[in-house]
Amino acid sequence: MGMKTLFLHETPTVSRAMIIAHAAAELRAGRLVVFPTETVYGLGANIFNERAVQRIFRAKNRPQDNPLIVHVAEAAQATALMDTVPPWFDELVEEFWPGPLTLVVRRNAAVLDVVSAGLPTVAIRMPAHVMARQLIREAGVPVAAPSANRSGRPSPTTAPEAYEEMRGRADVVLDGGPCSIGIESTVLDLTTKRPIVLRPGVITPEHIEEVVQTRITVARGTSERPAAPGMKYTHYAPDTPVVLVTGPGAHARIAREIARARGKGRRIAVLGPATLRSAGADAFFSLRTGAPIEYARLLYAGLRALDRQDCSVVYVPGIPPEGIGLAVMNRLRKAASHTIRTT
Ligand code: TXA
Ligand code: MG
Repeated sequence: MGMKTLFLHETPTVSRAMIIAHAAAELRAGRLVVFPTETVYGLGANIFNERAVQRIFRAKNRPQDNPLIVHVAEAAQATALMDTVPPWFDELVEEFWPGPLTLVVRRNAAVLDVVSAGLPTVAIRMPAHVMARQLIREAGVPVAAPSANRSGRPSPTTAPEAYEEMRGRADVVLDGGPCSIGIESTVLDLTTKRPIVLRPGVITPEHIEEVVQTRITVARGTSERPAAPGMKYTHYAPDTPVVLVTGPGAHARIAREIARARGKGRRIAVLGPATLRSAGADAFFSLRTGAPIEYARLLYAGLRALDRQDCSVVYVPGIPPEGIGLAVMNRLRKAASHTIRTT
């Protein structure tokens, strides 16, 4: 901690190839590199360098029992870490890689205990972001990376946000622009009889079922029996309390709350579709059309932006928990301090 953090940004005189080459050399040498993916920014380390991987946990204040995702640039890098290739692996890779699907498989001895928190399994994904894949290819090693936030904070979806989180904690931040998806990958466990979605994402259970041609399960992330170990910790929560408002009366209810707060001199923030702007919140962050994909892309950026607005609460209307909405509502429920249900 307290180290100098280099922000690498493409300019007319410093090419994209140059910044990637520099970051790749740093990774290889055991340094911590924040890099873009299509989902959220990751805090990466060479998976074969135990000290580097340990530094990830310190930089994030992450509990040691929460395993990391290994990022690869080609499928052969993934199979090299696996015991045997499980059923459905090839079909899923064919359909979804590179992309926001993480596969949990049985690992072999090449995977350090610190990467998978001592579990007999390892989580692997091949990111779709071109810079991420180029970085991993040039580093020549798979890259262990959690989201580049300090534990308990929303995942960063832009390089300046990642820099704000990891300044003095990582060696390098590689700017690859805003993330196109905005929420973390779908995590799918392939080590059980039927595949289990441990963490929902924009790759939906329905789409996975089409590919594997069998029924799959979606784990309920309860605190008693955490599905993905990471799901038991408070996640994604900004400092300003977030109130999730669900049901058909959500917009009207939020408008009423704003009117009521006005009388009491309290500042209210709203994160929602553009149609909610007219409700007159003191701070408003637009989720555009309010389509599930827009919620996903702008959710964390919106929570971060509104957190700086000095409001006493942020209201967010819910969406149906179906398809991509399932992943969005999973993140919103974690961010929310409580939920108001309307009818
Ligand atoms: O989109 C993403 O997945 C981003 C980008 C950077 O790739 N990464 C990310 O990492 O979200 P992280 O560490 O914030 O979340 C990883 C999740 C945690 O819930 C963790 O418990 C779970 O994956 N996980 C990792 N290894 C696992 C394993 N072997 N078995 C079950 N769950 C695992
Ligand atoms: Mg995370």
